[in-house]
Amino acid sequence: MAADSESLFSLDTYHVSEELGFILPDPLEELPPYYQPWMDIALRVPDLVHSHELRLHINKMPLLGTQHLQKHRELRLAHLALSVMTMGYTWQEGENNTVEMLPHNLAVPYWEVSQRLGLPPILTHADAVLANWRKKNPEGPFDMENLELLLSLPGGDSVRGFFMVTLLVELAAVPALRNIPTVINGVRCGETEAVARALEDISQSIQDMTDALKLMHVYVEPSVFYGIMRIYLSGWKDNPSMPNGLVYEGVQIEPMEYSGGSAAQSSLLHCFDELLGVKHEAKSSAFLTRMRDYMPPEHKQLIQDISSQPSLKNFVQQQDSERLNQAFQHCVTKLLHLRNYHINVVSRFITVPAARARQLRDRSQDSEGEMISRAPTALEERGTGGSGIMTFLKTVRDQTKDAFLPERRTEMNHQS
Ligand code: HEM
Repeated sequence: MAADSESLFSLDTYHVSEELGFILPDPLEELPPYYQPWMDIALRVPDLVHSHELRLHINKMPLLGTQHLQKHRELRLAHLALSVMTMGYTWQEGENNTVEMLPHNLAVPYWEVSQRLGLPPILTHADAVLANWRKKNPEGPFDMENLELLLSLPGGDSVRGFFMVTLLVELAAVPALRNIPTVINGVRCGETEAVARALEDISQSIQDMTDALKLMHVYVEPSVFYGIMRIYLSGWKDNPSMPNGLVYEGVQIEPMEYSGGSAAQSSLLHCFDELLGVKHEAKSSAFLTRMRDYMPPEHKQLIQDISSQPSLKNFVQQQDSERLNQAFQHCVTKLLHLRNYHINVVSRFITVPAARARQLRDRSQDSEGEMISRAPTALEERGTGGSGIMTFLKTVRDQTKDAFLPERRTEMNHQS
């Protein structure tokens, strides 16, 4: 799939859309009628969890074959539907009453659809964000007011806010993605000005991603995120609530372990890191590399192919161009700002509520306090993907600084 050294690097073979980047264009809203039993339940997951009836409904669901799913978009909607059912099924009773086994009528088709897509059998960023949207007015803009989710999880408007704001971050990154081939081809052909211009566009686009991320504070309520939603995003790997993982009945006798959904599974920052030459320290690198197995295979391949290109940083250092130097440094600066801002978001949505939860536990206070203190304790120090959050995020942020060209790096080290 990689462009050979003679041909130009292009995004065509990687399932990346000109207009929408990694976002799935026009996700289907319905499956063939045969799969109505799935959709009937998937559409009601928040309500059925609320009434503690989801497991009952899923246990009674017929075992359906996957042979009537043919198109890519059908498989993506099926994966999304089976994923929200699985997350609801597993976590319906909270962290203390989890299940050890996913019933075969859910597990078997879920496994088959996952195999065909090259995705793991758990809710991923590619499901919940990239393939989970529709425009209310098809002619209208791609913005918060005109977008809605196809399928949801418990947490009401904050769930919509969380997935949709993340979708807008993906959208803001599209100009950056589009410019990656220009950078790669420019480096190969020695086109200094073209590379500089493309890097300028990429840094603007990363700035726009940070601006989009700010909307998280407008559309997502931290206590709802922390106290209600987060458990439904979490997985069964490195999770003390499910220490043995989950048995997918009818698929395999031994339990399997999968990490929960996280935007660490978005391909964007992986692409930027490879392009700019950001090298992560062993432990964070291992986690981030593992997250690539939770992406659509074509997107994972793109990251891989960017990483095997001639080094952009070496090229910048070899050219005697102030504009190119500046453009490169600017990209790294914007990526650093994005990671810094993301750390603030994580602090507001996880660290602060986690501290309150510890304070409030056993002292049922106002309703917000009660919601927070009901949050899963197993997740206090961990991201839904299973990482030890702040240490990980700060290490990743700090490694980003090492991508600066030498003079700037010295400056940054003096400042910190
Ligand atoms: C309320 C909003 C958010 C919270 C609470 C949050 C939380 C986290 C946590 C806990 C991690 C650690 C990995 C894990 O265990 O899952 C993480 C990683 C990450 N998140 Fe977020 N996140 C949020 C929104 C976003 C958004 C909108 C993006 C952009 C697409 C994003 C991009 C990333 C990336 C790329 C990583 C991997 C670390 C890195 O490369 O810097 N996050 N996030």
